[in-house]
Amino acid sequence: MKRRIFSGAQPTGRLHIGNYLGALQNWAQLQSDYDCVFGIVDYHAITVPFSPQEIKKRVFDCAVGFLASGIDPEKSIVMLQSLVPQHAELTWIFNCISPVQELIRVPTFKEKASQQKGNVNMGLLDYPVLMAVDILIYKAEFVPVGDDQIPHIELTREIAREFNKRFGETFPEPKEIVRPRMLGLDGTNKMSKTLGNCIYLDESPDEIWKKLAPAVTDTRRKKRQDPGEPNDCNIFKSYHKAFSNREELTYVEKGCRNASIGCLDCKRILFDNIVKELTPVREKIERFKDKKDYVMDVIIEGSKKAGVLAERTLREVKQKIGFDYLS
Ligand code: TYM
Repeated sequence: MKRRIFSGAQPTGRLHIGNYLGALQNWAQLQSDYDCVFGIVDYHAITVPFSPQEIKKRVFDCAVGFLASGIDPEKSIVMLQSLVPQHAELTWIFNCISPVQELIRVPTFKEKASQQKGNVNMGLLDYPVLMAVDILIYKAEFVPVGDDQIPHIELTREIAREFNKRFGETFPEPKEIVRPRMLGLDGTNKMSKTLGNCIYLDESPDEIWKKLAPAVTDTRRKKRQDPGEPNDCNIFKSYHKAFSNREELTYVEKGCRNASIGCLDCKRILFDNIVKELTPVREKIERFKDKKDYVMDVIIEGSKKAGVLAERTLREVKQKIGFDYLS
C-alpha cells in the first residue's frame, strides 16, 4: 500500500511560478510513489472578499493549472473542497478541540487580519483548523507545500495529537515536504497579484521577459563593471537555482563575481530555462481551457472518490466521540 499525501491550493487567482515550484511541480513528481489527493480549497478562499461568478472561474482555472502541471487524474484524486461536505462537518468537531490562543498567533491570521481590518471573520481565524481537516480526513502522512505553510502543518499535528489523546489513536501526525519560498521579482515582497511581482504560468515568453528584465538583482551592483554577489541576488538564489543546471549556475556565479557577465546576460540564461520549463505548461493550459466538460468531470469524479474516503474517517471520528447513533 502506498502512503498518502494531501495538498491543496486556493482558487484565489492565477497560478504563478511560486505555486508551481513550491507545490505543483513537486506534486506531479510525487504522484507515482504516493497515493495522492490534491484539493482545490474553495472554502478557504471565501475567508477573503470574493465574488460568486469569479470564484467559479477560478476553481476551473485552478483545476486547469493542476492538470497542465502534470497532475494525472488516473493516478491522483483531484477534489473540490466544497463538494466534499465532510470537511465542513469535521471542522466543527476539530473546532471544539482547537485552542483559540494558538489560532490567534498563526502568522497568516495576523497578516490577513491587519490587511482586511473591516472583515476579520471567523473563517480567517478558523482557516488552519479547516486545513488540518483537509489533511487528516484523508489520514495523509505527508504534505508537500511551500515553506509559508509550515505553521499550519504544525498546528495540524497538534490537533491530531489532541484528538488521539482524548479519543484514542485515530490520526497520523503528518509531515511537511517543503520547498523553499520564492520572493517576488522585486526581491523583497512575497509574490502578489496586486504588486505585479510574479510570473504566471500562462504568460507568454514576451510577457515573461518584460517582467524579468527589470527584476531586482544584487542592489550593490550598480554598473555592468561592478562585481556582484550571487548570494545577495534574489534572481540567482530563488530563480536560477530553481531553473538552471549546475554548469549554468557555476558560470553565472563566477561571471557575476568577476563582472565578466552583466545582470542582463544572467537573466537571458534564466529566461531561456524558464521558457523551456513553462512553455509546455502554458500550452497545456490553453488546451485544457477548451475542454471544459473534461475538466469539470475530473473535479466531480475526484470529489466523489474523496467523499468516500472522507466519510469513512468522519464515521470513525463520530463513533469515537460517542455520536454513533446510526451505526
Ligand atoms: P496557496 O493557495 O497560497 O498556495 C498553494 C501552494 O503554493 C505554495 N506557494 C509557494 N511556494 C513557494 N514560493 C512561493 N512564492 C509560493 N506561493 C505559494 C504554497 O506554499 C502552497 O503549497 N493554505 C494553503 C492551501 C491549503 C492546503 C491545505 C495546503 C488548504 N488546505 C492542506 C496543504 C494542505 C494555501 O493557502 O496555499
